Amino acid sequence: MRRIKDLRPIKVKDLKLYVINQLELPVKTKWVELSNCQEVADAIKNMVIRGAPLIGIVGAYGFAIGVKELVEKGEDLKKAEEIKNILERTRPTAVNLFWALDRMWNRFNRLLENGESREQIVHQLFKEAEKIELEDYHANRSIGGYGQVLLPEKANVLTHCNTGALATSGWGTALGVIRSAYEEGKNITVYVDETRPYLQGARLTAWELVYEGIPHYLITDSSAGFLMKRGMIDAVIVGADRITRNGDVANKIGTYALSVLAKEHNIPFYVAAPTSTFDLKTEKGEDIVIEERSEEEVKRCGECDIAPQKSRAINYSFDITPSSNITAIITEKGIISHVNEEHIKQFFKYRGE
Ligand code: MRU
Repeated sequence: MRRIKDLRPIKVKDLKLYVINQLELPVKTKWVELSNCQEVADAIKNMVIRGAPLIGIVGAYGFAIGVKELVEKGEDLKKAEEIKNILERTRPTAVNLFWALDRMWNRFNRLLENGESREQIVHQLFKEAEKIELEDYHANRSIGGYGQVLLPEKANVLTHCNTGALATSGWGTALGVIRSAYEEGKNITVYVDETRPYLQGARLTAWELVYEGIPHYLITDSSAGFLMKRGMIDAVIVGADRITRNGDVANKIGTYALSVLAKEHNIPFYVAAPTSTFDLKTEKGEDIVIEERSEEEVKRCGECDIAPQKSRAINYSFDITPSSNITAIITEKGIISHVNEEHIKQFFKYRGE
């Protein structure tokens, strides 16, 4: 078994939250403190931290930090609802944020009902956020365990965006499966899509793979079809931002195109995500709000213009992959194959939510 180096994107000390500023990677590994609710909200919105599970975890800490601010300023705890709203207004697509904030909100109301002191409420909210963080880590390890079995002893695996330690509490979902397969001693080569326009693949996934020493090639997003046609890819594995009741998956823009290409070339297409990414209240992919980000992200790269200022750009951050294009969804509670509404319903009935 190979040894994998631990990588954590956030740390909490003395009720203070520190995160790696992902906008600075791969050039610098810079830790920044997010000291109030607004700073946490801005960090999520501006993608200082990103990735569905990590947005949820940081959102949960953001709520605890916001309540701590109220306590320190001697303000009414009724204002906690506004803190939840500020954090919810940051990014609309990843359901993990709303899931984590609902959980924090329920915990907060139970603590109030129990008549806990203001200091105790803050303390317990940080504990709840820490629980969410730890549960995510264990979920990732479990996803990795289930998922790595699906990969052959020698496999060329294509992945999109960043679904690794930097997108979660550590380890990762889709990249976690790759990590687990590598840890098991499998001969894995990763093909990493650059993932325009924010370049999560080039800047973050490639950086993580260098950190781990896992063999990989960076490819332009438009190379995937040609590589598949040439027989260079054995499996595609991606993460998810939201999975609806019928198994449709919202994930980073470009995921849908990969799923179509994989189907055309008879290549298995796997989605790896914790059960907190399922949104069973939403019926199908078309019902998901897809975040649209600034045109500038497409027309500029770092400090450089890469398109005429007068050109308009479209920048949907996510797309929808229909369940019919997905070979299996790998969760911490097991694998859902033949992805459809009935199988998902049975899965949650027998494995619990
Ligand atoms: O815009 P981002 O970087 O937050 O998008 C991230 C993705 O789309 C990931 O694939 C998804 O959140 C799963 S991360 C484990």
